[in-house]
Amino acid sequence: MPESEAIAKELTIGELSERSGVPASALRFYERQGLIVSRRTAGNQRRYHRSTLRRVAFIRASQSVGMPLSAIGNVLGFLPKDAPPTREFWLRASACWGEEINARIEKMERMRDRFTECIGCGCLSFEQCLLVNPGDRLAEHGPGPRRLLEP
Ligand code: FES
Repeated sequence: MPESEAIAKELTIGELSERSGVPASALRFYERQGLIVSRRTAGNQRRYHRSTLRRVAFIRASQSVGMPLSAIGNVLGFLPKDAPPTREFWLRASACWGEEINARIEKMERMRDRFTECIGCGCLSFEQCLLVNPGDRLAEHGPGPRRLLEP
């Protein structure tokens, strides 16, 4: 395939940065972490396959809901490094992601719904604490705000 045509399917780091909204420094960091890959031109310049845009979008979206890079890397590990991932690959990746995301949604819902009441943190500062956490008995379940941490 002539070089001119391949460029359309490939992006420079500047083009990838502009289209994804992610600084080039972060893209280089993702590459060092093995989350995205590039090829090098004869002039040693990076070229990213266009499908890298979806990987970067996945990384940013996952980070925005608090997913650590290590977990993101595990999921991206499902995807082929050398070919654009198909929809089937993304389905497999999101399947294992689904559980993790559901757990985070539940945690956030608990936080939203329970922060105005006793959270079982041991402070015993609410009247309700005396009812749901008398004598701080929830401390027996472990440290932290037990009523936020447990379903
Ligand atoms: S809010 Fe802290 S023990 Fe109830």
